[in-house]
Amino acid sequence: MAARLIDGKAAAEAVKVEVRSRLARLAEHDLVPGLAIVLVGEHPPSEIYVRKKLEACRKVGLRATLHRFPADVSQPTLHGKIAMLNADPAVHGVLVQLPLPPHLDTKATIDRVDPEKDVDGLHPLNIGRLQTGRPGFIPCTALGIMRLLQHYGVDVRGKNAVVLGRSAIVGRPTSWLLLRAHATVTTCHRHTDDTREHAARADILVSAVGKPHLVTADWVKPGAVVIDVGINRLHDGRVVGDCDFAALSERASMITPVPGGVGPMTVAMLLANCVLAAERAHRLHDGGAA
Ligand code: GUN
Repeated sequence: MAARLIDGKAAAEAVKVEVRSRLARLAEHDLVPGLAIVLVGEHPPSEIYVRKKLEACRKVGLRATLHRFPADVSQPTLHGKIAMLNADPAVHGVLVQLPLPPHLDTKATIDRVDPEKDVDGLHPLNIGRLQTGRPGFIPCTALGIMRLLQHYGVDVRGKNAVVLGRSAIVGRPTSWLLLRAHATVTTCHRHTDDTREHAARADILVSAVGKPHLVTADWVKPGAVVIDVGINRLHDGRVVGDCDFAALSERASMITPVPGGVGPMTVAMLLANCVLAAERAHRLHDGGAA
């Protein structure tokens, strides 16, 4: 049986409807959330991601500003900019686009972002909050994956969830969120013995590795839900995920396409996190999930 397609664009639109209504409430208080994006160097995929983020902000009515630096910017200059953005009351979210050039210390840079403006959820304080179940900011892709599952009525509780990849941006926070939602979680990484064997036991399989054609049909249990986070550009210019989409479509019960699956959700959840940051800054947030 053909798998049901998980439409990230449609789910992202549902998130944006909520974002617009929260923006309208903020506007009643004369507030427009501000997002500052810091971009260093010329990394082509980052250029594309940042353009998408800026466009999405503009479309919903969030005030986004881009702060560009040459690839050889010094660490103190970058830190100085982050300090200025932290101190600016019109800026509610600060996002440093990754990866940074190798001469810069990524962790030290993220540590400088005010945790209350860390809409990427990468600051150690927000990681600790996520792990200990306190409200904070959660990385946008991980949050987007959970929203997709919720949108499509996938009950995570008690299920075997397998996450391929343990990156700070996607793999680890996705594992924590699945665990928080009462799944039994296995995180596989480059040192895992027989990743295929783990994957084949998954009711929910999330691949966030960045390797085209990694996940073939024999990695997937019939009826599993497959979330493909990979975005890989092939030599012929096509963009594909980590999964063999055609083969898995005959085996999974639901699957995300690439593009059009997780990608739009990452951007939508960034908008939601920016609104949340502004609501919290002005004591207008009425609780609820981070
Ligand atoms: N690079 C790729 N994905 C992301 C993301 O979600 N946030 C940041 N800051 N950089 C990225």
